[in-house]
Amino acid sequence: MNPKDRLIFPLDVPDKDTARRYVDLLREEVGLFKVGLELFMAEGPVIMQELANEVGPNRFFLDLKFHDIPSTMHGAITTILHGITLTTIHCDQGLEALKKMVASLGGDFKILAVTVLTSISSEDLLTLGYDRQYAEDPTQLVLLKAKLAQEAGCAGVVCSGQEVKAVKKECGQDFLVVCPGIRPAWGAVAGDDQKRIVTPYEAIKNGADYIVVGRPIRTAPDRVAAARQVVAEIAAGMKD
Ligand code: C5P
Repeated sequence: MNPKDRLIFPLDVPDKDTARRYVDLLREEVGLFKVGLELFMAEGPVIMQELANEVGPNRFFLDLKFHDIPSTMHGAITTILHGITLTTIHCDQGLEALKKMVASLGGDFKILAVTVLTSISSEDLLTLGYDRQYAEDPTQLVLLKAKLAQEAGCAGVVCSGQEVKAVKKECGQDFLVVCPGIRPAWGAVAGDDQKRIVTPYEAIKNGADYIVVGRPIRTAPDRVAAARQVVAEIAAGMKD
């Protein structure tokens, strides 16, 4: 894998014209584009087809973080399958629900299970009613969920760069790990909602297969230069 193939740029933008501009600008700089709730709500499922026509089916994935009963998730995802080979669902429905999703999608379809959002802090976990053991060490909670996801047949998980080493050790190198919550030293985000953050270099050095970098690139004065700087850090992390 080239360093740039490991970089995912989230199309967290309000409409398809803006999304297209980012795709045109960054298609040579990043590996994958991610469609999340904002663009999907604005443009509907048809955006997936339109992007597939523009950048090819293997250059983007759908990150809606499904979280519902299995039959509802199944119904929702099978209506928008076109051109999608990778999607995200929350781990929290439990083992049987995860297994059902994996089985009902089947084939070459990959599911990434979201463990603990990178915007969640230890304090948030306590407020949410999690045991102190998990609040004090979110890695333990991420590991619990990652093992569940692996047992269910998911292709991998989404977690922060702080937990990736532990997940790879527990679940093996082939179990995919995607890390958002990436903040380069030069890429502070005003009013940031991300809490469990690491740099591109650290995430990759810790074993991440892919990193998601949005606002540090999107809000940079020169977005192409920012993407290239992230890719340089990825390359350094791969080397060490
Ligand atoms: O770099 P930035 O914080 O702007 O990127 C955030 C992106 O990563 C958003 O699209 C968000 O949905 C996604 N994401 C996340 N935390 C997760 C999973 C995905 O921030 N656990």
